[in-house]
Order: sequence, then structure tokens, then C-alpha cells
Amino acid sequence: MADLTSQNKTLLTLSGVSKHFGGTQALVGVDISFERGKVHSLIGENGAGKSTLGKVLLGVHQPDAGEMMLDGEAIHLRNPAQGNDRGLVGISQELSLLQNRSVADNISLGREITRGPFVDAKKTRENVLATMERFNMHLDPDVHVGALPVAEQQKVEILRALSRDARLIVFDEPTARLASHQAEQLLELVRSLANSGAAIVYVSHFLDEVLKVSDTISILRNGKLIRTSDRKTETRDSLIVGVTGQEVQNQFPPLSPPDLQAPPVLSVRGISRAGEFEDISLDIRPGEILGLAGLVGSGRSEVAHAIYGASPLDKGQISFAGADLSKASVSDCLKNGMALVPESRRDQGLMLSRSLLENVSLPHLRQFSGVLGLNKKREYEEVDLRCKETRVKHEGLRHPVDMLSGGNQQKILFARAAVGQPKLLIADEPTRGVDVGAKRSIYDLIVNLANQGEAILLISSEIEEIMGLCHRVIVMSRGRISKELVQDNLTEQAVMNAAFSGG
Ligand SMILES: Nc1ncnc2c1ncn2[C@@H]1O[C@H](COP(=O)(O)OP(=O)(O)OP(=O)(O)O)[C@@H](O)[C@H]1O
Ligand SMILES: [Mg+2]
Repeated sequence: MADLTSQNKTLLTLSGVSKHFGGTQALVGVDISFERGKVHSLIGENGAGKSTLGKVLLGVHQPDAGEMMLDGEAIHLRNPAQGNDRGLVGISQELSLLQNRSVADNISLGREITRGPFVDAKKTRENVLATMERFNMHLDPDVHVGALPVAEQQKVEILRALSRDARLIVFDEPTARLASHQAEQLLELVRSLANSGAAIVYVSHFLDEVLKVSDTISILRNGKLIRTSDRKTETRDSLIVGVTGQEVQNQFPPLSPPDLQAPPVLSVRGISRAGEFEDISLDIRPGEILGLAGLVGSGRSEVAHAIYGASPLDKGQISFAGADLSKASVSDCLKNGMALVPESRRDQGLMLSRSLLENVSLPHLRQFSGVLGLNKKREYEEVDLRCKETRVKHEGLRHPVDMLSGGNQQKILFARAAVGQPKLLIADEPTRGVDVGAKRSIYDLIVNLANQGEAILLISSEIEEIMGLCHRVIVMSRGRISKELVQDNLTEQAVMNAAFSGG
């Protein structure tokens, strides 16, 4: 009898599923099943095969071997549309929205209500509004998706999935782009979707989140399923050991104090940009890691972009390494020794169809050029070194970056910023989507750069990261600095209070 109940609960079963891409074995003989009403998390290092597994479930990828059973019947999904038709939907790791279309268009795309041959725009729109209402996720339906910050764009993607009658929903790192209170809301939503009977596949690198939301946890390593277990039998440490195959080490490297006598390398005075931020002043000394905390939308990234020359100031001054960069362009800033790891690897960062080599070295070609032209050997060696330091898992530096897993793409951005030892490194959410092992190597990199005298401006929504890495923290709220915290008053509670204060 017990067997019968468990069978009824099972929605989707994979047996012996394998999938390779060229020489990479992304999945190896995976046996796994997903139950109705349960949140089943997939965890593992970057490149372990989590997204590939999710995409096999949705019909995006077809397995090379193995079987898939939906409700006890074998299925062969040739494309995601066939998956969608069976109620298998996904929220992808990289957003896949049409930037030039409205929120409502994106949510209803492919599912417009028609009257005869025509789209019934009014009904379609009503449907969109009803979905927003039902899941309590409200957005302006008419605004262009491209004009929204990433956190809001993701809501659009989630609403799009929810507007179909989903039986199984794959969430691939859904909170990677969200601030902590938005992540909380999302977890509640995930729970309530499971409670209403859907099978949830939840991919995340945030182990605390996984422990909180899951019923079942599966660990993947190098394409193999290491184990599937009841959440109650796992702890943070047991998961780390499972994911990395190694014993747990300290999360953060030790910090040495910066030279407080040294003059600041960056001085920002009273900078403002209408609608983004107002009257921001800050200094960073060589060797100092300054955290910029605050909620998503508080203006942190906008300040970083302005410092980096990517958007002009309405007023205020920026001086950097002795130069006045108040009106500088990005290329001026680069030349003077700034580097930026941007927030969104897809829109701001990578040329996905180009090689790792090109992506890492392109902004630095001047540095590898001498009287005899480009020194290809030096270029290759430097890129190779930086990719090793950041532990990018790849098949060769000449392969295109879109073949890398999401977290490895993130590491490429970091490798690029580290080339040529900038005087100031601005890192906007540098470990987003990066696995626990590789996170530590990025932390090591940041701290090493600081120890070598580089100044670091670190924007992070992960409060632990801010607490563990920064000498000093500026908290922003609604475009203004709401608080500056130094070692003796730097507590998690103080950062949170300042982030939520009116500003
Ligand atoms: N379309 C593709 N072409 C070539 N290789 C791919 C493709 N998609 C994935 N891979 C490779 O398959 C392996 C598994 O990738 P996958 O995206 O499933 O990892 P992941 O566990 O989701 O990692 P992350 O945590 O970084 O998102 C990686 O080595 C990746 O480079
Ligand atoms: Mg992935």
C-alpha cells in the first residue's frame, strides 16, 4: 500500500538519463523523480549539470540515453513547447524576455487569447492582471521590460510561467538577482505553489535557502547524482561536503587593515543623477574594501556606473588617482585604472558567441601590444592565469563563453576585471550564481587584490558577504547614503536597519 501512495505522488521520473555536449558529459546516468506537492532542490558546483537536468525536464535538451516518465507514461519531448503543453514550465537562469515589448506582452506571449484570427488584447490583458492579482505580484503591464531593473524583469518571467497551468515548475537560481526581502517573498511563493500541488524543481547556490524551502535535496557533481535525501537529514555543512567533495573551510579569508594614513585613491564628492541618486560622497583608500549595501533599487549600481564613467553626473566631483574624472567616459576610467564586474553578465558583460580568450582580454589589448603588435603568447598566458585563479571550468580558452555554465560565465567577468591589476575594482554582485567552492576563491581574489593595495568597491545583496569582506560599509536607501558603518558599529542588524530606513 505504501508503494502505491508514493507512486501516485510521483509526477515525473527520469531513469538513466545522460546528456553530453561535445566532449563534456553534462549528465551521467541520472535516476531521479519529482513528486507533486514537493519542493525538490538540485544543488552542485558550477557546471555540475543542474541547469542541463532542468532543461531536459522541460524539453529544451533531449537526453542521449535514458527514459522519462510523466504520470507513468514514457514521454519524449522534442522541444520546450511540447513540455509546456504538458504543464512543464521553467524560470530560466538567464532571463529570456523580449526587452522591447511590454510586461503584459511578455507574460502573455504565445498564449494570447484570440477571437477568430485576432488577438483579443483586452481579454489577454485582463488575464495578465488576474495572474498578477492571484500571485500578488504587481507590475505596470504597459512598461517596456527593458526599462525595468533585473529584479522586476524576473518577476515578469515568473508571471509568464505562472500564467500557464503548471504541473512542474523548474526554478533555476530564481533568487540570484533578488534582494533578501524579495527572495523571502519568492520562497513563500515557491512553497505555496508546492502546497497547491505542483512539483517544484529548485536550483540554487544559496544553501540556507535550499534548507528552508525544500522537502527533498539532490546533489549533483560532474553530471552524476551523488545523493537524494530528505531535507531533514541534511545540514549546511553536510551539503557543502556533498557539493564540493571536501571538508568545510572558513567561508571568508582573513582581512588585513588598510593603511589609514594613505590618501584615498577615489574621492567622490556630492554626486547626483536625477531619479537615481543624490548627494553621494565617499572615499576609498588603497587596500580598502568598501561595501556598498542597500536594497535592490536603492541606487547602488547606478552610483557604481557613474563612478565608472558609464553615465554622466548632474553634479558633483569624482577624483581618482590624482585625475579629475567627473566628466570621464568609461574608456577614460579604464585607462586610469578602474575595472568593473557588472551586475548582469548577459546585458552588460559578455559577448556570448566569442571565445573565453577574447572576452577576458578584449578591454586590455593595449596592455598586450608592443612595437611588434599583439603579443599573443603573453595574452594567452595572462588569460589562462586569470581563469585558473578564478577557477573557471572550461574546455579550452578558444571555446565560446555561451558553452559555459552560468556560474562559470560569472567567473569570466571577474577574470577579465583582474587582468592588469586595476587601482580600483568595482564589483557589482561578483559572486551571484557562483557555487560555494568558487565563491571562496573569488573572496580570496578580492582580499588578495586589496592586500596588494587595490581599492575595492563591493556591491552585494548578500549581507554575509558584506560583513565577511568589508573594512567599511556605506548603506544606501532610496538613492541616498543612509549610514556609514565601520568595524565597531558594523553589525548585520545595523546594515538592515539602514537599508530599510527612509533615507
Ligand atoms: N549548450 C551547451 N553547449 C556546450 N556545453 C554545455 C552547454 N550547456 C551546458 N554545457 C556544459 O555542461 C556542463 C553542465 O552545465 P550546466 O549548465 O548544467 O551546469 P550548472 O550545474 O547549471 O552550473 P551553474 O551553477 O554554473 O549554473 C558544463 O560543463 C557546461 O559547460
Ligand atoms: Mg546553471
